Amino acid sequence: LPSHYTLPSGDQIPSVALGVWQASKGEVGAAVKAALKSGYRHIDDAWAYHNEEEVGQAIRESAVPRDQIWITSKLWNTFHAPEDVESALDDSLTKLGTDYLDLYLIHWPIAFKKDSNNVLEESLTSDPYPTWQKLEEMVEKGKVRNIGISNFNIPRIKNLTANPLKIQPAVNQVELNFWNPQPELLKWSKENNLLLESYSPLGSNKQVGNTLSIPEVKDIACELGITAAQVIISWHVQRGTIVLPKSVTPSRVEENYHIFELPQDAFDTIERLAAAHPPKRVVNPSKSWGLNFDIFDD
Ligand code: A2P
Repeated sequence: LPSHYTLPSGDQIPSVALGVWQASKGEVGAAVKAALKSGYRHIDDAWAYHNEEEVGQAIRESAVPRDQIWITSKLWNTFHAPEDVESALDDSLTKLGTDYLDLYLIHWPIAFKKDSNNVLEESLTSDPYPTWQKLEEMVEKGKVRNIGISNFNIPRIKNLTANPLKIQPAVNQVELNFWNPQPELLKWSKENNLLLESYSPLGSNKQVGNTLSIPEVKDIACELGITAAQVIISWHVQRGTIVLPKSVTPSRVEENYHIFELPQDAFDTIERLAAAHPPKRVVNPSKSWGLNFDIFDD
């Protein structure tokens, strides 16, 4: 299985990252250190995870040079106004203690008014191009190496890329897991040369079902002499996506880094079972943000 993918910029992005969403202060630093010690060279963070300072400190305290680590962060919804993008990025850079990011994503295709409590900014939500142009400028300034999107469905991607972009989105980070495998989005993204990053790859905290106790997954793990988590994480990379498993447990962090090519029949079994039930999304803040539409509706 690939250890890296090549982005349109030519940069090589590691296929397995430590995800640090819901990794709280006081535990995330140790998880990052365990990850770097295990061989990870990719940390997926965001301003909204409120842990960038501890993540940055752990990176600096590790013996691994900055230029060998891929760091991703994300622009929060309240900073989509073009005049707010650079200061939001600077805040992430300061907190992470670095002068550039490898990848910066628009966290959601939803803009809120600055300093508001989830008050929708309709214009920048329906047209994210002004926000994107500012991200392009951040690449030109050298503050970020690659830019991308997150939680965009196909119509929203097309809405953005219909503009005369100087830089195409390098990745789209979306929920992908056994419960919500999104085969159509995966196929479309491959056809359109847009790499997907799988968040909540294990199904996140068993909210919709416990991926790791699915009998077929356990059987495959047993046959291959690996763990159920390794089967699922490998499946994601074998599908052609970047995978971002989250753990704050050092032994699991280490376990999750080791991926194995699955025999075709095992891969097909997981793919078939994952598509055999109605998709259930683990993450959808539409209601909690008080939106009168569903973010993921076409
Ligand atoms: P913890 O962080 O306490 O170790 P996802 O990546 O889909 O969001 O899933 C994250 C959840 O899965 C967390 O609750 C994490 O627990 C748990 N988890 C991560 N890796 C493993 C593993 N190898 N085995 C079992 N549970 C895991």
